[in-house]
Amino acid sequence: MSEYRVSIVGTGFVGLVTAVCFADRGIKTICSTRNEKNVEMINKGIPPFFENGLEELLKKVVDEGNLVCTTSREEAILKSDMTLIIVGTPFNHIDKSINLDYMEQAAIDIGKALVKKNSYHLVVVRSTVVPGTSRNMVGKQLKNHSGKEIGKDIGLIMQPEFLAEGRSIEDTFWPDRVVIGEYDEKSGDLLQELYEEFYGDHIGEKCPIIRMNIESAELVKYGNNCFLATKISFINELSRIAELVPGVDIGKVAHGVGLDYRINHRFLGSGVGWGGSCFPKDLNAIVAFARSHGLEAQIIQSAIDVNDNQALHAVALAEELLGDLKGKTIALLGLAFKPGTDDMRYAPSRRIAADVVAKGAVVKGYDPKAKESAVEAFDQDKTVITLTESVIDVIKDSDCAIVCAEWDEFENLEPSFFKSHMRTPCVVDGRRIYDPILFSSELQFRIIGYNIKD
Ligand code: UDX
Repeated sequence: MSEYRVSIVGTGFVGLVTAVCFADRGIKTICSTRNEKNVEMINKGIPPFFENGLEELLKKVVDEGNLVCTTSREEAILKSDMTLIIVGTPFNHIDKSINLDYMEQAAIDIGKALVKKNSYHLVVVRSTVVPGTSRNMVGKQLKNHSGKEIGKDIGLIMQPEFLAEGRSIEDTFWPDRVVIGEYDEKSGDLLQELYEEFYGDHIGEKCPIIRMNIESAELVKYGNNCFLATKISFINELSRIAELVPGVDIGKVAHGVGLDYRINHRFLGSGVGWGGSCFPKDLNAIVAFARSHGLEAQIIQSAIDVNDNQALHAVALAEELLGDLKGKTIALLGLAFKPGTDDMRYAPSRRIAADVVAKGAVVKGYDPKAKESAVEAFDQDKTVITLTESVIDVIKDSDCAIVCAEWDEFENLEPSFFKSHMRTPCVVDGRRIYDPILFSSELQFRIIGYNIKD
């Protein structure tokens, strides 16, 4: 693998994890970010954010000399044969369409740097972008700013990534497919060759390499995220139907449904809904993209709408138990959008906290990993919340505990634990981690997707 030298523009969670995994396979990797503090941290082997397993691997590849980070994009590009663009593609808050500013700037910078390079260079778009972006924006800017020809001097690929936070290192090393969207055959052949070597025996039936045109690859990523998010919204809608009928447990229903091999049980976990850095932005971006072409993406829009309501349903369950929330103290267990990460982007806990505060309650929150990120997120939302250092502190003297993220640390808590620390022992299980029969026999209890009132 040592013949390839790879540069990566962007050191967010996908960029840095990809860089570290490439470097771990002996590929000389140079990543670049304008954030000087992050450059310094990465070069010392310290990740600027939490991700399972990243700290150990980053330290190792930096010590081995296979990964360096620089503030100079030009340096990174000129010292490599291939550049992966892994910059953020957030959405614009007004119309929720994709914001491609970082992507465009990366293409301009790569184009300018390539003026100084005499050999062929492969550019791979890894960020999620709406169909047409890689060819029409990235390709165009590369050509304009380098004065070179795409498909001849510069290769162009769109290769979507499917990394999930918390397990992104495993997802990188053991993907279930590699999708190569190619501008031309040579670009595709080069990338396929690299991955055949990178993945070795893993490539095959378990993980095929599939090749297609650039725009199809761009849409694969949206297809993936939209389908997964829709699957969750679907089960959450079904769980609301389940709640209409006493004794129906959505967990059992989902198990029954998921055993159909055409459906499978993954992403049929009902709860307070999906958040994170991808689903909210990607579903909104593709809806806006379709709308800009005169098409209403109805199913995807409904998945968003169902999800928007789902987090607030946990508050409604708390109201069923407590009545008016005014003056009550509500404890949120788990703040990150899911366990295994400190990422607070579009975390359901934020909507729940804001709603509870608007109803006149006092909110406390605890998360095993989301600390600084939680402070930042609630500041940004202007939600007043007291963050605690332990689960005991968060439930102490509170009137209702709402489970917002299913960290292991919460799963083994017994009803007696809540009873001995809370002012009113009352739990809303927004992630379905507790036994409803046991908990409802011991304290006031509500769980998403199971009506145990009667
Ligand atoms: C997702 C995709 O899984 C990944 O392929 C893509 O590259 C990026 O977006 P991520 O956002 O990291 O990854 O997390 P994921 O594990 O997919 O969970 C997303 C959200 O869905 C979380 O809020 C999670 O709590 C929620 N979820 C997931 C459910 O509510 N129920 C489920 O059954 C599964």
